[in-house]
Amino acid sequence: MSIEQFKDDVISGLRQSPQKTLPSKYFYDKKGDELFVQIMHMPEYYLTNAEMDIFENKTQELIESFGMDKTIPFELIELGAGDGTKTLHLLEALVKEKYRFTYIPVDISQNALDGLQKNLTQQIPHLPILPQQGDYFKILNELHKSEAPKIILFIGSNIGNLTDDKAALFMYKLGENLTPGDKIVLGVDLMKSKEIVLPAYNDEGGITAEFNLNLLDRINTELDGDFDRKNFEHAPFYDEEEGFAKSYLKSKKNQSVSISGQHFNFKKDETICTEISRKYNDTILNRILGETDITVLHKIVDSESLFADYILVRN
Ligand SMILES: C[S@@+](CC[C@H](N)C(=O)[O-])C[C@H]1O[C@@H](n2cnc3c(N)ncnc32)[C@H](O)[C@@H]1O
Repeated sequence: MSIEQFKDDVISGLRQSPQKTLPSKYFYDKKGDELFVQIMHMPEYYLTNAEMDIFENKTQELIESFGMDKTIPFELIELGAGDGTKTLHLLEALVKEKYRFTYIPVDISQNALDGLQKNLTQQIPHLPILPQQGDYFKILNELHKSEAPKIILFIGSNIGNLTDDKAALFMYKLGENLTPGDKIVLGVDLMKSKEIVLPAYNDEGGITAEFNLNLLDRINTELDGDFDRKNFEHAPFYDEEEGFAKSYLKSKKNQSVSISGQHFNFKKDETICTEISRKYNDTILNRILGETDITVLHKIVDSESLFADYILVRN
């Protein structure tokens, strides 16, 4: 990730009207990676345990749905791999069952990839692993360069960070760069009541608030900004009807902030939207796949039906 790109994205996001935005992919500097690992361990953040239940206890169902031939080498490409704790169960099972594959974790955070590689080298010493740093939107265009069959992992509700239009575009581009028969594991958080969803983005310990505010610290450090984090607060919101959780940073007063020599005014209570987390059901997913060559092959849910990993196929 270049600093120029970061600056352009921040400046254009804060110039947007009426709703200022900052892209959520910039949460993940070293501190952000650490905070996200803490979030995944919070009791309120049901998403990790629910998807872990699938990867740990339904590994065989996952592998069978891939329908891979053990004699043909394939690529297992994970988009936004993070610390890969859930994937570890799948990787161990695939190695044990003597599948021939290379694991290619992709992440915007080099720090996350370094930690992941170190951990996997210890846990599964003979696993062929080829980490790739970058924005997964850009890396999609390079997928077709290799002719090996592919399984794409896009789990952890990563797609939930995209608006429906962007998710549809992402899936369209992904389909364009895959070959018929390639599979996708898409991990999505399912639509449910706000009593369950909201605490996941507003924990009592304040870790999510710290994760959100850390973005301002990152802008200060890397883009010569002067945000005073005391003047902003974490403000989460969930629209139960539409299934959208959103995180905002709310200005506590009228103020002006400078970033790389440019000035931005904030009114009291004005918000910056820093993250969306879309909740899914079959209808929403099928709408997003509507214009693509991708269809649903199978759906695996956790024991409490909170989360789903859909197995999709490129036709
Ligand atoms: C919500 S975490 C999920 C991690 C992991 N997939 C899991 O399920 O636990 C998101 C991860 O995606 C990475 N990420 C976010 N936006 C990205 C982008 N546009 N391109 C590449 N990686 C991205 C972050 O650095 C982070 O490691």
